[in-house]
Amino acid sequence: APVLRADYAPPVWQVPEIALEFDLDPARTQVTGRLSVVRAGTGPLRLDGDGLTADAVSVDGVPADWTMDGDQLVIDLAGDAHLVEIRVTIAPEANTQLMGLYASDGLLCTQCEAEGFRRIMFFPDRPDVLARYAVRLVADRARYPVLLSNGDHVDSGTLPDGRHYADWRDPFPKPSYLFALVAGDLAVNRDSFVTGSGKVVELGIWVREHDLGRTGHAMHALKTAMAWDERVYGREYDLGVFNIVAVSDFNFGAMENKGLNIFNSRYVLADPDTATDQDYDAVATVVAHEYFHNWSGNRVTCRDWFQLSLKEGFTVFRDQQYSADQGSAAVKRIEDVRVLRAAQFPEDGGPLAHPIRPDSYIEISNFYTATIYNKGAEVIRMMHTMLGEAAFRAGSDLYFDRHDGTAATCEDFVAAMEDASGHDLGMFRLWYRQAGTPRVHAALDFDAPGGRARLRLQQVVPATPGQPDKQAMPMPLRIALFGEVSGTKLLPEQTVMLDGAHQEILFEGIGERPVLSINRGFSAPVTIESDRSAADLAFLSAHDDDPFARYEAMQQLMVDTLVDDVATGNADLTPVIAAVKATLADPALEPAFVAEAVLLPSEAYLGDQMPVVDPQAVTRAWDRLRGALGAELIADWRGVYAGMAAGGDSLEAAGKGMRRLRGVALGYIVASGAADGPALAAAQYEAAGTMTDRQTALSALAMTASAERDAAFAAFHARYADNGLVLDKWFQTQALAPRSDTIDVVERLARHPDFVMTNPNRLRSLVGAFAVNQRAFHDPSGRGYRFLGEMVVAIDRINPQTAAKLVPPLGRWSRFDAARGAMMRAELERVLGTEGLSKDVFEQVSKSLG
Ligand code: ARG
Ligand code: ZN
Repeated sequence: APVLRADYAPPVWQVPEIALEFDLDPARTQVTGRLSVVRAGTGPLRLDGDGLTADAVSVDGVPADWTMDGDQLVIDLAGDAHLVEIRVTIAPEANTQLMGLYASDGLLCTQCEAEGFRRIMFFPDRPDVLARYAVRLVADRARYPVLLSNGDHVDSGTLPDGRHYADWRDPFPKPSYLFALVAGDLAVNRDSFVTGSGKVVELGIWVREHDLGRTGHAMHALKTAMAWDERVYGREYDLGVFNIVAVSDFNFGAMENKGLNIFNSRYVLADPDTATDQDYDAVATVVAHEYFHNWSGNRVTCRDWFQLSLKEGFTVFRDQQYSADQGSAAVKRIEDVRVLRAAQFPEDGGPLAHPIRPDSYIEISNFYTATIYNKGAEVIRMMHTMLGEAAFRAGSDLYFDRHDGTAATCEDFVAAMEDASGHDLGMFRLWYRQAGTPRVHAALDFDAPGGRARLRLQQVVPATPGQPDKQAMPMPLRIALFGEVSGTKLLPEQTVMLDGAHQEILFEGIGERPVLSINRGFSAPVTIESDRSAADLAFLSAHDDDPFARYEAMQQLMVDTLVDDVATGNADLTPVIAAVKATLADPALEPAFVAEAVLLPSEAYLGDQMPVVDPQAVTRAWDRLRGALGAELIADWRGVYAGMAAGGDSLEAAGKGMRRLRGVALGYIVASGAADGPALAAAQYEAAGTMTDRQTALSALAMTASAERDAAFAAFHARYADNGLVLDKWFQTQALAPRSDTIDVVERLARHPDFVMTNPNRLRSLVGAFAVNQRAFHDPSGRGYRFLGEMVVAIDRINPQTAAKLVPPLGRWSRFDAARGAMMRAELERVLGTEGLSKDVFEQVSKSLG
């Protein structure tokens, strides 16, 4: 039965204190919990468990009567305060779900968000029960020399039989999802940070010995993030220790456990030989994200899981601001919007659409989505735009101040913003309730004799499952008009609040035909529909002074051209070619921006623009435009390719930007069909001094069927055979190859000895990447669907959370032609008919079938 937001009731018992003792062993770990429970309502004590059996239960030192009600342990307690002691035994090495306490690569570690703690100890496993934790870890010293948990290390010592112990105490009350422990043979990169008020914080990044040399970048990012959060949000760190541990088997990116962040190793480890520039940026972003959670998530947590976006949307917004401040803000904004469009827009337009504050769920793990995270961040960003920097900061200060040490709601956040700013956010709250990406239609008329322009805006919020009728949502739209003749801005930019379904804005004193620049900076997470001509878009791509709008004009020009070509097969490509040529030649533009601007929208994004996706027609049009851009501008690409070599191996922003543009140029040279394309890519591969250059060469070669391709992939595999994170790239690059034989390659790779089902990174690299490769996954034979369906079933037996995340590509069946749609549905039905399906996969599949 689904859990409903409307059913929220405060906890009947609070647990202000808990002492936990772990006798750690991979096969048989004993956990003793001593819970001080205090009555907060009427009813028995109910403690959540998942796969646990109690070995012993006592209350106030006396063996207690208890029963199991499903997975809950129930004790009928009279009185108002007791000490409940429970002992359980668990087997970390048998835990393939990677939730709770599990073994990874010889380490023991935990993941508790959202409901993993109940796989460790019986407890009211909900975020509005906050306890102070005292933890004792006992383990074999040789095998587990390092023992870490939350908060401060208070004691350690030797025990008989080669065992030892460590005691940790976390002074801050926290919900159970923030509990963590790690035991293992780890090396540490130590540093320290002095906070604004002069407190010294000991920092540690814990990894396997051979990875120690790859932790410098994460440490630098951590210290930068700590300083940034003090400067921009006034948030100081509160404990004397901050530890990060890297583990290789992890269900998602990382976890913000109080004082002991646990990370997927791919977001910690980076050096030039093994990490691309993109990897470097991802490490910094995730390190900052988890660090920022110390305030937005830990000091102020969520009342219930329906409020997840309270911490995730806000924290993503904060990490986006941080990353924008570290390099090019313009390029960062373009990247953020690309992620939103690639991951969130399809979610919002499909059977799994949900508001950023959902109303119900079957399995909460399925709601760690692009909607909660990325659209959630866009909603916070709109408040920032509407209120302005100073009032937004005042609202954030008030929010932290009011709710420190408590479990809050999304409404609390909005109310703090209102109270601090005096700005009425009334109907803006609809963004929390309504799913679906609004479509805004914009039409601009020019009355030349009157010198007036009139902008008519109209918004429609599409129906989504369970929400057939929608209300118009208030949104800030940054708008400017450019003079077609002068090429300059006619009026200062305005932020128009679109408050209803229709709105008209009048501009006076317009002396020449204006061209509309709208949703500048992507000020609202919506789709803009306008009838701007190819000429107007090309004009904006050369003259708009908002970098995002300039990029967007080029993208829209490419989209319009490709959509036309899909329909007619002979669209006029010359406006795109001319606009790309002009962009490449503009010396005022930074290389990273140029690289973004000249890249074609993905085939999947193009499919999203069509009423019925025709993957083959999209592929044909995409290849035609890409080939034409390559061939017509071959001299320009060669010039750029040579010019950008100056970026060399420098890790500075300029070097990164140049490598990026060089990689894009290489891709176009290969796509042009030039005879020397594969050799050029192979030469870059050979000479590469960074993983970025190696990776762009490999991606370019992956487009070809050449001896150079085979040689490079073989060399790459041999060189990195013992580095799992780099092997992931080897799998992923092949799975993403825009080739019609990719399906054969992927099926073969699934039988490769290095393909392991127990490692989520490896699964995402092959299966996840393949499923978003539109031309490969939607192979007309239906083999792609069958492959994914079989994978989901097989993975579900091992790791339901990871299996469930692979389902959505099949759920897009209604977007395709009848033949594909039927095959996709059949695959979903087959999965649904599997015996012993997890509730994770059940929810995704049953909702996908509609
Ligand atoms: N709170 C973590 C983060 O965003 C992610 C936890 C994901 N949990 C899950 N069950 N999917 O930093
Ligand atoms: Zn987060």
